[in-house]
Amino acid sequence: MAKLKLGIIVGSNRRESINRKLAQALARLGGNRFEAKFIQIDDLPIYNQDHENPAPANVARMKADIEGSDAILFVTPEHNRSIPAVLKNAIDWAARPYGKNSWRGKPAAVTGTTPGVISTAVAQAHLRSVLSTSMHVMGGEAYIQFKPELVDAQGNVTDESARKFLKDFIDQFAGFAARFTSQRAQAAA
Ligand code: FNR
Repeated sequence: MAKLKLGIIVGSNRRESINRKLAQALARLGGNRFEAKFIQIDDLPIYNQDHENPAPANVARMKADIEGSDAILFVTPEHNRSIPAVLKNAIDWAARPYGKNSWRGKPAAVTGTTPGVISTAVAQAHLRSVLSTSMHVMGGEAYIQFKPELVDAQGNVTDESARKFLKDFIDQFAGFAARFTSQRAQAAA
């Protein structure tokens, strides 16, 4: 079976982002089903409708990366009980201009981590609501409380039960995403 193209979007622009570490671990765990590409969002200007046409080059690059992906995995921290501004900014740019929404019809999965005990639950709920205007968002919940030893320097999840949980999550997403890809292939045939 051909691997699905997975676009990974990390909702943090922090150099040592724990969400990027989690995303790298998920990319590794899903390596047998997905070919992963990290989609850069931390170099985009602040969204401005006056600058949609033509879109700035970084925005055009991000939109092409999204459109070239079969499925999108969002791995995000929580900022003030919502999604970080850097992520909302990327979502707004990629949804525009009107009629050229790069997210439309794509399958998505949402997860994220913070050191806090309720670990991104509110941000994930907000993100699901935002994405549901144009994407098919997988059900199920994956809230990961980050501990420094969770992911080693090579991107391996060190704790066996966390590893199994994350492997099940990414495998479930591969099954979910494949349904939409085959629907698209049938529609194009
Ligand atoms: C936070 N943090 C945070 N954590 C949380 O669980 N709920 C929250 O509402 C917030 N709010 C918040 C606001 C702002 C502006 C910052 C900078 C941080 C803490 C956050 O979870 C922590 O910084 C993580 O390390 C962020 O993930 P990355 O950027 O390392 O991936």
